[in-house]
Amino acid sequence: LDLTVSTSGGNATNPIMWGFMFEDINHSGDGGIHGQLLRNNGFQGEYHNTTAYAAVGDVDISVDDENPLSDALPYSLAVSVPEGTTGSVGFSNEGYWGITVNADVYSSYFWVKGGYSGDVAIKLVGAASGTEYASSTVAVDSTDDKYTYFETSFESKQAPDGNNLWTLTFDAEKVAGSALHFDLVQLFPTTFHERANGLKPAIANVVDDMGGKFLRFPGGNNLEGASAERRWKWNNTIGPLENRPGRQGDWGYGNSDALGLVEYLFWCDDMGLEPILGVWAGYSLESGGNTPITGDALQPYIDDVLNELEFITGDTSTTYGKLRESYGYAEPWTLKYVEIGNEDNLGGGCESYAERFTAFHDAIHAAYPDLTIIASTNEASCLPSSMPAGAWADYHNYNTAASLVASFNQFDHADRATPLFIGEFSCRETATSKYPFMRGSVAEAVYMLGFERNADVVRLAAYAPLLQLFNDTQWDVDLIGFTQEPGNVVRSTSYFVQQLFAQNSGTTTREVSADAAFGPVYWSATASADGKTTYLKLANYGDAEQSVSVRVEGATKAALTTLSADELKSNSPDEGEVVVPVKGSVQASNGSFALELPAWAVAVLVVS
Ligand code: AHR
Repeated sequence: LDLTVSTSGGNATNPIMWGFMFEDINHSGDGGIHGQLLRNNGFQGEYHNTTAYAAVGDVDISVDDENPLSDALPYSLAVSVPEGTTGSVGFSNEGYWGITVNADVYSSYFWVKGGYSGDVAIKLVGAASGTEYASSTVAVDSTDDKYTYFETSFESKQAPDGNNLWTLTFDAEKVAGSALHFDLVQLFPTTFHERANGLKPAIANVVDDMGGKFLRFPGGNNLEGASAERRWKWNNTIGPLENRPGRQGDWGYGNSDALGLVEYLFWCDDMGLEPILGVWAGYSLESGGNTPITGDALQPYIDDVLNELEFITGDTSTTYGKLRESYGYAEPWTLKYVEIGNEDNLGGGCESYAERFTAFHDAIHAAYPDLTIIASTNEASCLPSSMPAGAWADYHNYNTAASLVASFNQFDHADRATPLFIGEFSCRETATSKYPFMRGSVAEAVYMLGFERNADVVRLAAYAPLLQLFNDTQWDVDLIGFTQEPGNVVRSTSYFVQQLFAQNSGTTTREVSADAAFGPVYWSATASADGKTTYLKLANYGDAEQSVSVRVEGATKAALTTLSADELKSNSPDEGEVVVPVKGSVQASNGSFALELPAWAVAVLVVS
């Protein structure tokens, strides 16, 4: 195969084309990228019980709603100490299937109600070994009539594994015959960018290193809710944590909403990501049939979105800008993209979506004419007969490797009038593997080359889902997996494909002439804004090595990064990162680079 990459001309490519789709699924938020390490810490969602807790010493622990911390958090943990008990007693929390304990500075917070004057010990200990890795003493003076807040920070030693507990203990004698109530217990490592209530660096660094440029949040299904009442409500995710009720998320577990609207925006700030805000559009995932909200009944939800937009972007003279300021954030954020709903083409959402989309669109556009408004589907039958000028559409595709490859040309003849956001895609062959595997990752690369060649209409794209806690996953095949074992964040073969594309994106798609048709080798080229760097991306969707000669006028040497492995090879919790990209350089001979592209490979040649 001979390729000649043009060094001039071409269509503009969106510089933020590759990014992230995030929702709390697979414990990707609570227990995942969010830094707080204790599970069920506010007894939110349907967890009005002692899940993740155990008694330490001779005490009874139970959860009740007789001692609410706040209107938002009615449940608390009662630790009842029998008459005559002595020694150190209390409770433990096992975190999200363990707690990673590193040599690091940790912070812990808790609320307590009940008469107690004395020391409380916070410790990180091995669950099986009993080894103490960290200990901190907090002088507590608390009373029966109200909750009192305490915090401490301490250094920890490195634990060899993730099978650890956080414990809180106190002097039994001082409470014997009565009880103390605890709520909103928290434990954070040093967070990403050292933000209060921030992200977990072990995961955030891996996400950041991928090089994505936007963040779509907060869903996905998790935006929609099992019912209208149970949708993701922005105003329940802001302000002090004790005022956030949390909710039963759409993936079978409680969401604390500690990773809330402001935290998402800081995530964007800290990784240089463009926020793409999903807003609820009158359609939820009610089992047994959801009736979308339409007509005048939609107005309160439209008003709610306008309030949310004012909270994000309004100055401090506005009602919601002032509210934001009251939480300590005087500076508004810049928001350029809003998506109306999620997958409104599915499950009974389609018929009413044209009406619902139009109602949200028109109200938002009138107030914020510069915002790009994205429909949650590109299915014409669900959209207004004529899309409003400037509106975009979201398209999702989870499919087999063969289907993604067959869809390489999918956007060649797409209607250029409506720009597309490929808001979720991935190769999903759960019968082949529950992890991304090399053939599937190459297929994703082929599909993405099709996006890049059509960058005039495909403006944004994100793999989904982003994260999974291997111990408790609701959706197999995810980009990055983790457990609480130290260092156990596994970047999949698909992660490295995303990284190769995101880190070598360019702003102009360059023409490439070839002496053969696409398949099994596929390609696309882009150039940097100053035109000085050319990126040629190649995918070999086949089991034979391929010789490729590449001519880029004037080039004498180039960097070459290659990801390849056996067809079914995966990076997984058992095997770790067995497939990683290999970096090298190549010299041109007689004006051409002679490449040997391995079987099942994705490669990027960078000429600068
Ligand atoms: O990414 C998993 C789910 O797939 C998303 O929540 C939903 O939008 C899609 O159906």
